[in-house]
Amino acid sequence: MFSGWPDGFDRIPDSDWVQLPVEELALKYDTVEDHGWYRNLDRTVSAITDWVQPDHLLVDYSGGTGILASRLLEEASQRRFGILIVDSSPKFLRLALEKLRRHERVAFRLIRYLKPEKRLQLMQEVLGSTLLERKLDGLVSTNAIHLYYGLEDTLRSWAEVLRPGGRVFIQSGNIGLPYLPAGSWIIDETVDAIHKAALQIVAEEERYRAYRAGSTDPERMRRYDDLRRKFFLPVRPIEHYLQRLEGSGFRVLEVTHLPIEAHVDQWYEFLATYHEGVLGWVGGSARLEGSPPDETALTHRMQLIREAMERIFHGKSSFQALWTYINAEVAG
Ligand SMILES: C[S@@+](CC[C@H](N)C(=O)[O-])C[C@H]1O[C@@H](n2cnc3c(N)ncnc32)[C@H](O)[C@@H]1O
Repeated sequence: MFSGWPDGFDRIPDSDWVQLPVEELALKYDTVEDHGWYRNLDRTVSAITDWVQPDHLLVDYSGGTGILASRLLEEASQRRFGILIVDSSPKFLRLALEKLRRHERVAFRLIRYLKPEKRLQLMQEVLGSTLLERKLDGLVSTNAIHLYYGLEDTLRSWAEVLRPGGRVFIQSGNIGLPYLPAGSWIIDETVDAIHKAALQIVAEEERYRAYRAGSTDPERMRRYDDLRRKFFLPVRPIEHYLQRLEGSGFRVLEVTHLPIEAHVDQWYEFLATYHEGVLGWVGGSARLEGSPPDETALTHRMQLIREAMERIFHGKSSFQALWTYINAEVAG
């Protein structure tokens, strides 16, 4: 029996999202678990395993479909600690629930979007009084911090719900660095490179002639640049994160980097799900043009993503992406 949850705390809340069916998009995302580049979780799993103590409560913030939580349950099974998966996507969280609802050491909470205030709920608004009183021992955020548009509010809310000395484990492959080893990538920056290479291919190859006029219309392409940046946010530099952590009540303990090998095939598979964001200008995007691309354009779009990847990775089957790991603790 795991006794770490405070009295009166429901692991599975009585909420609308719990009743939703499991959706395709979440199942599709969940397959990244088998991708080589998801070894990015290894360092985080071992850092948590080294630190965690029995009865600790750890928040898996942006825990998504529960991939990290499953790994922690497998690899630190002897350490009897609790994991609270918190996410802003009901679809992802629903799949996490499907996979892990039988684990008494795992609990689930949805971060809701507050429409009138145009913001996500803060941790204080999500946890409930029993956990707020107890406070949490640690928080982990994997492959997600680059997505937080309200970064400062998010970090301050983390500090608020953690105990003094509580730990934070952050990692992402989309943190900008002042230097990159030759041949290494910040993983989402491959998307801009694919876009540029596809523009060249369209200009050079007759079979893509149909997309030339659209791809040289500056006004149209500005709209597609904006669309791409909605799917793949511009990379913010590491200093941006470190300064905001320090300014939100954390002491940064360690910053490390690790090259992660990504297979081009698997990265293609991942990007193919978001093809509208990568090369929406090939055939057009329904949200910008009012109608979706036809089948031929869609086929061309996928081919172009593939060919552009061959070009930027020089026909190699894998590339190196650089992940950044930041460990911090609540100061004072
Ligand atoms: C790329 S997935 C990573 C999921 C998981 N941590 C992993 O490593 O597999 C990013 C996750 O961040 C969540 N997310 C996106 N924007 C967020 C935000 N502003 N605040 C909290 N979570 C967010 C998404 O719902 C999604 O589950």
